[in-house]
Amino acid sequence: MDNRHINTEPLWKLFISLMGLLVVACLVLFAYLCLQKPIKNYLNKPTYSHKQLEEMARKRAIQRDKERSENWNLVEKGIHVKTGLKADPNLQVVIGACTSCHSAQLISQNKATRQGWKNMIVWMQQTQGLGDLGANEGIILDYLAKHYAPKETGRRNNLDTEAIEWYILNVEE
Ligand code: HEC
Repeated sequence: MDNRHINTEPLWKLFISLMGLLVVACLVLFAYLCLQKPIKNYLNKPTYSHKQLEEMARKRAIQRDKERSENWNLVEKGIHVKTGLKADPNLQVVIGACTSCHSAQLISQNKATRQGWKNMIVWMQQTQGLGDLGANEGIILDYLAKHYAPKETGRRNNLDTEAIEWYILNVEE
């Protein structure tokens, strides 16, 4: 018998079980790293009472209204962005009376004198069901005549002969 032969079987068993333990440890660590955030979120989850939730909803609604009205009043380069109409202190009167049946574009793409606008309003009143505008009519006509007047189509000014620097045309080359 050779006593120097060492039985390595228990060593192997120990090694394999150690490896198994290591693998399990790695898995646990991995799972922990993955779940760290959800677990933290769950533990720190704030709990709101019904009242607090209502309060938050109310604040959000106020904020939304504010943003909407800021957007509504937005004026860029003298144009009221929402309607495309020229900005003016009386613009809201015009919007209130004139944009319920058709888009404001019908207004902005038209040009007329005050009388021309008056005629259009009368036409809408007689045929399209536009109601009496009362005291607003004057305000609206002022607005329309000011911002949507016909373009000046006059001829160019006469030449100002005094201002021209005349020169002698040199015909000899
Ligand atoms: C009761 C509904 C109603 C209201 C309010 C109303 N309109 Fe009109 N308007 C109409 C209808 C309908 C037309 C014809 C639409 C079309 O041709 O598509 C029209 C057409 C027009 C046109 C085009 C006219 C043309 O000759 O092409 C202009 C400009 C106009 N409206 C301006 C105004 C102004 C300014 C106001 C505010 C004072 C106003 N509208 C309010 C119903 C209305």
